Amino acid sequence: MTLLETENLSKSFDGLKALNNVNITVDRNALTLVMGPNGSGKSTFINAVSGFLKVDSGKVLFEGNDITNKEPNEIYDYGIVRTFQNPVPLKSMTVLENILVSEKHVGEGILNSMFRSKWMKQEEEMVEKAFKILEFLKLDHRWDHPSKSLSGGQMKLLEIGRALMTNPKLIVMDEPIAGVAPGLAHDIFGHVLELKKRGISFLIVEHRLDIIMQYIDNLYVMFNGSVIAHGRGRKEIEDVLNDPKVVEVYIGD
Ligand SMILES: Nc1ncnc2c1ncn2[C@@H]1O[C@H](COP(=O)(O)OP(=O)(O)OP(=O)(O)O)[C@@H](O)[C@H]1O
Ligand SMILES: [Mg+2]
Repeated sequence: MTLLETENLSKSFDGLKALNNVNITVDRNALTLVMGPNGSGKSTFINAVSGFLKVDSGKVLFEGNDITNKEPNEIYDYGIVRTFQNPVPLKSMTVLENILVSEKHVGEGILNSMFRSKWMKQEEEMVEKAFKILEFLKLDHRWDHPSKSLSGGQMKLLEIGRALMTNPKLIVMDEPIAGVAPGLAHDIFGHVLELKKRGISFLIVEHRLDIIMQYIDNLYVMFNGSVIAHGRGRKEIEDVLNDPKVVEVYIGD
């Protein structure tokens, strides 16, 4: 059931406790949302579990493996991939090229390139895989367009596509629908639900609660570096949202 968990994760910046003994569990096959007012430590948490930031103390366990303070590429090898708040796909590249460059094994290594036929076969398979992903995201008709011609929402979908090329177990996203129109935002979560059915789990930070709430399985609320409330399943999630502690930090925001 548990895919990732943290134990008393802590991180300070010049005396400011951005993470203060954070214990969060990410279930398998579920969407876990971390919410909280600005500056509550959400991005710091995501950066810490994905290796982009070193913590001062505590642990991150993924499928029982201690991955605390490992490098991003090592964590990625475990099957965790994160997308960024402002995706910066290589803008002059086409949509297809953008998906392909995310697959780190393409043409990798001198040894492989010596076996050119094997390498070409691999490349063919990668393109096929990339097209399947683009089809799934309904971006296939744009495959040869420069990615800079995509809308903001399509860019986020492309970012998910890049993540999918790595066969992830967990996709970590920081504000995936910030600045995205509601229709397309629901479309993005429609894809997330479909991917969940295929066995991919999600850890998401998002402020647009009106849109995301119906899609989540597990909710954590952070404030000043600490988890102040947690709920799993509809009933508990409703309770968290009505919890006076939670309401208060939002009113004070
Ligand atoms: N690299 C850094 N150096 C110094 N302070 C930082 C750094 N990163 C984050 N902080 C501080 O840590 C606290 C938590 O920041 P964080 O970015 O995690 O918040 P957040 O919950 O993601 O906020 P938002 O909703 O605005 O994105 C803030 O007070 C922030 O200023
Ligand atoms: Mg943030």
